[in-house]
Amino acid sequence: MVKICCIGAGYVGGPTMAVIALKCPAIEVAVVDISVSRITAWNSDQLPIYEPGLDAVVKQCRGKNLFFSTDVEKHVSEADIVFVSVNTPTKTSGLGAGKAADLTYWESAARMIADVSKSDKIVVEESTVPVKTAEAIEKILTHNSKGIKFQILSNPEFLAEGTAIQDLFSPDRVLIGGRETPEGEKAIQALKAVYANWVPEDRILTTNLWSAELSKLAANAFLAQRISSVNAMSALCEATGANITEVSYAVGKDSRIGPKFLNASVGFGGSCFQKDILNLVYICECNGLPEVAEYWKQVIKINDYQKNRFVNRVVSSMFNTVSNKKIAVLGSAFKKDTGDTRETPAIDVCKGLLGGKARLSIYDPQVTEDQIQRDLVMNKFDWDHPLHLQPMSPTTVKRVSVVWDAYEATKGAHGVCILTEWDEFKNLDYKKIYDNMQKPAFIFDGRNIADMDKLREIGFIVYSIGKPLDGWLKDMPAVA
Ligand code: UDX
Ligand code: UDX
Ligand code: ADP
Repeated sequence: MVKICCIGAGYVGGPTMAVIALKCPAIEVAVVDISVSRITAWNSDQLPIYEPGLDAVVKQCRGKNLFFSTDVEKHVSEADIVFVSVNTPTKTSGLGAGKAADLTYWESAARMIADVSKSDKIVVEESTVPVKTAEAIEKILTHNSKGIKFQILSNPEFLAEGTAIQDLFSPDRVLIGGRETPEGEKAIQALKAVYANWVPEDRILTTNLWSAELSKLAANAFLAQRISSVNAMSALCEATGANITEVSYAVGKDSRIGPKFLNASVGFGGSCFQKDILNLVYICECNGLPEVAEYWKQVIKINDYQKNRFVNRVVSSMFNTVSNKKIAVLGSAFKKDTGDTRETPAIDVCKGLLGGKARLSIYDPQVTEDQIQRDLVMNKFDWDHPLHLQPMSPTTVKRVSVVWDAYEATKGAHGVCILTEWDEFKNLDYKKIYDNMQKPAFIFDGRNIADMDKLREIGFIVYSIGKPLDGWLKDMPAVA
């Protein structure tokens, strides 16, 4: 029986290993993590992450060929294949701060693997890492190996949160990079055999190590770039009277462009896009390619611009002040169907509104009050270091309330901001919401999910990203 161990029981490692266990009954999969609370949750009925379909997969395999444990060293030493799926946040201090990936967790995992291994192993990079990380890891492993042979593979995971199980069941492609040597080739084939249990062979791509590492950064950069492109167009649409939904549709119909990832929004979030682009920018700068670095930086600049633009629109529409006004915030997760708030645009929008002294009433179906409060006090890049929390100032605390119902959030509010595209926000009783709000009642739709005509009929003043402005908004131009 092949034994797989995955270090890191997070958003990537957990679901990926659960699906490998489901699809490969002959493989024993152990997912290990240093976080006792995470592992306890994986072994309970309340999994640590919300992901549609994940519960069923875990229930089917847990205790049979899928195990979650904090006994990291035991499982690593027994494994034939070790996946490393630890966090690689952006560095917050020292050389490359704010851009480079922090490989502290990676390095300590590699040293531990070298320490406890008693047999040859394949070590697989699963978390997104800077190009040439494999080389560094290889050095750590071989210099500490006591004669044991390690083969390093890069197998970046392309799943998106909210659709992780679907993405893992039928991936567009699986990418495996390895050394171009007989041993490297053998390791590639061993990992390919695992995926071949359910992924068609023509979707399993094999490349050299560096191509695999760079492809992951490139794919995320391209996806984010599409969103920044459409968001940049959304600003122009508002200025000219074009409609971004019509423009996106027309552009996406070109088979060379395609329709996906062209939804204008308040901005992209999530743990990957910004981090990976910053990382790409850093790599370009380190390699003497400032023009290339500058090109990719623009993707993040437009994303920041879009979030600012949204806040400015809210404030300018409401007579240029939100001071002491109650604003309902619907959605805090970075996208629907996840409870994840890493780099969510909601954080920046909320901070912007709080800067204008608004009172916020926030509701998200999957994000806890504790998480929302924590997000709002963290400095940028701090999500990964919760120990460095600063206390929220007492006056700010008083201005944020987290509630468990959209109707409660909007009661008595002057305005509503939709910041996550949860399905339930499409089907709210907006008449009831309107009746309970201050007048004039505003809706600012940062995800283009609301039926603008219907809302206007009810009496709302409606702003929707990239859509023609109604008379009111035209008279209150936002300064971007
Ligand atoms: C373009 C648009 O494709 C077409 O829809 C529009 O109506 C007019 O402008 P055209 O300029 O004739 O058409 O050719 P196109 O095939 O788009 O190529 C434009 C340039 O891009 C060429 O120099 C081509 O060599 C280059 N190109 C194209 C690349 O360098 N790489 C590519 O992958 C594709
Ligand atoms: C992304 C990549 O899609 C995935 O392949 C990679 O493995 C990890 O990073 P994820 O961050 O989970 O996945 O979600 P994704 O669906 O890509 O959305 C990222 C952000 O972009 C979200 O905030 C989403 O709301 C936003 N988005 C997405 C838009 O604003 N418009 C779109 O058209 C698509
Ligand atoms: P991702 O979204 O990439 O999966 P997460 O932050 O959700 O990232 O998960 C990474 C996990 O890796 C965390 O649960 C963290 O506790 C774990 N981790 C980090 N370093 C180590 C280590 N050396 N050994 C075991 N687990 C680790």
